[in-house]
Amino acid sequence: MNPTELPAWAALRDHHREIAPLHLRDLFDADPGRFERFHAVVGDVLFDYSKHRVTDETIALLVGLARQAEVPARVERMFTGEKINRTEDRAVLHTALRYQGDEPIRVDGHDVMPDVRAVLARMRAFAERVRDGEHRGATGREITDVVNIGIGGSDLGPKMVTTALAPYGHERLRVHFVSNVDPSDLARTLAPLDPATTLFLVASKTFTTQETMANAQQARAWLLRALGDEATLAQTPVVRSPVRQHFAALSTNLEAVESFGIDAERMFPFWDWVGGRYSLWSAIGLPIMLSIGPARFDELLRGAYEIDVHLRTAPLERNVPVLMALLGIWYLDFFDVETHAILPYDQLLLHFASYFQQGDMESNGKSVTQEGRPVAAGTGPIVWGQPGTNGQHAFYQLLHQGTRLVPCDFLAAARSHHPLGDQHEILLSNFFAQTEALMRGRRADEVRAELAADGVSGERLELLTAARTFPGNRPTSSFLYPRLTPAVLGSLIALYEHKIFVQGVIWNVNSFDQWGVELGKVLAKAILPELAGDAPASGHDASTNGLIDAYKRMR
Ligand code: F6P
Repeated sequence: MNPTELPAWAALRDHHREIAPLHLRDLFDADPGRFERFHAVVGDVLFDYSKHRVTDETIALLVGLARQAEVPARVERMFTGEKINRTEDRAVLHTALRYQGDEPIRVDGHDVMPDVRAVLARMRAFAERVRDGEHRGATGREITDVVNIGIGGSDLGPKMVTTALAPYGHERLRVHFVSNVDPSDLARTLAPLDPATTLFLVASKTFTTQETMANAQQARAWLLRALGDEATLAQTPVVRSPVRQHFAALSTNLEAVESFGIDAERMFPFWDWVGGRYSLWSAIGLPIMLSIGPARFDELLRGAYEIDVHLRTAPLERNVPVLMALLGIWYLDFFDVETHAILPYDQLLLHFASYFQQGDMESNGKSVTQEGRPVAAGTGPIVWGQPGTNGQHAFYQLLHQGTRLVPCDFLAAARSHHPLGDQHEILLSNFFAQTEALMRGRRADEVRAELAADGVSGERLELLTAARTFPGNRPTSSFLYPRLTPAVLGSLIALYEHKIFVQGVIWNVNSFDQWGVELGKVLAKAILPELAGDAPASGHDASTNGLIDAYKRMR
C-alpha cells in the first residue's frame, strides 16, 4: 500500500496547514515544558527534538502513521530473519551481527548465531596476532600499516568508525582506506608505505566490484615487485609467502577470493543477509578491530545492540529512531523539503555524514513500492553535511537565510578526547548557538531598533534591516553524548540505521536493494574496451560519442 492511502496521511496534510504558519519561537515562548516533553535519552545519547515544527498533536499524528504502517510488526520481521529484501530474496540481519542474547536467529531454518560468533572469534584471533606483532610480514617484520581496499559499504563504514575511534587506535598500526579506481588514490596511499610492513585487506561482499578488484590487483603487484614473486620465494624458503602474509579478504565469495590467490584461512566471511551499507558490524569491520582491538569492537557492537533492543521494545512515542524517521517524513512529505544535513560538532565524526549519505540515499533513494508500483510520496532525502564549525564558514548562510528549508542534525560530545585550553567550550558554544539561531531567527523590528540605535537611518536602515533579518523557524535535532566512545558510536550508527529502515517501512519501499547503481556499471564495462584503440566511438548518443572521441584526442 502507498503511505498516502493511510488515514493518518490525510490527517497530517490537514494538520500541516495549521502548523506551517506557526513559529518555533512562539511555540517555545508559550510552552516552557517543551524541552522536557520533546527530548528522550537512550543509552548515553540525549536526543532533543523540541526545536522541530511540531506540537503534541503532530507527534500523535505521526505516531499514528507509524502504527498504521505497521512499523512494530515490520521491525519484528526484520529482526527475526524474514526475507524482507524481496527483490534479492534475502533476510536483513545486520542486527544479528551485534546480538548479545542467547536466542537463535534463523534464516531458512538455520541459526546464524554460531556462524556469526565463529567469524568474530577468528577476527579477534587474527586482530590480536597482528596487534601483538605475532603475525608478521613476509620478511619477518611487524605490520605497521593496514590498507583496506573496498568501496561503498566496504569502505565508508570502517573508514568512518576507524576515524571516529582514532583515540582508541593501536599505537603502531596506521589504517588507510583506498576506494577510488582513480589510480591517484592507491598511488598516493602506497607512496609512503613499506611493502614489508603493510597488510592489505580486500573488502568486497561480492569480490567482483571492478574498482576494488583493480586496486587489489595493483596492490598485489606492488607488493610482489618489492618482496619477490612466489617463484622466487620458492628458492628462498626463509621468506614467507608475501600474498599469504600481506593479504586478507573480507567477503561472501570464497571462490573469487581463492582465485585471487588468498586462501580460505585468510578469508573472513559474512553472508548475503548483510547489506553492504550495513556491514561494518561483520568481517568488514576487521580494520576497525585491528585499530581499536577486539574488546573495544565488542563495545561498539553492544552500543548498537542497545538501540536494537530500544527499537523493538520502546513505545513508538518514545522510540528515538522511530521519532527520527517520522520527523524526517514530516518535512520531506508535508513541507516538501529535499535535503537533510548531518552536522557533527565533533571532528572525529569527520566521515559520519558521507557514511550516512550512502546509508540513506542507497537505501531509500527508491521510487517504487514493495509491490512494484510508483511511490506516491517523496522518499529519501539528499543527505549531506560536514563537521561544524567548518560548515558555519561555508554553507550555513543558506541554512539561516536561504529560500530552502533544510532540517539539520547537530551532534556533539560533552567531553573531548583531546582537551586543549577552552577549545571544546568554544566548539560547544557554537553547537548550542546555531540551533538556537536557526530556531529563533532575528525579527526585523529587533534588527531595525538596533541599527537605529547605532545611528543608521533612511534607505540604508531599510536595506540593512532586510539583509540582517533571520526568518528562523528552521528545525534541528540535537544529539548530545558524554564522550565519543565505541559504545556511543555504535548507538549513534544504529539510531540512524533504524531511522532509515522505519522510513522505508512507512514509504513501503525496499530499503535493502540498490538496483539503481547497476546501469552505470554495465555501461562502463561496455565502454572500457572501446577506449583501447583510436577508432572513433559510434555506438552511443552524440554526446557520449563526442566525449569519448575528445578524450582520445586529449590523452
Ligand atoms: O555499487 C553499490 C554497491 O553494491 C554498494 O551497495 C556496496 O556497498 C558497494 O557497491 C561495494 O560492493 P562490494 O562490497 O560487493 O564490493
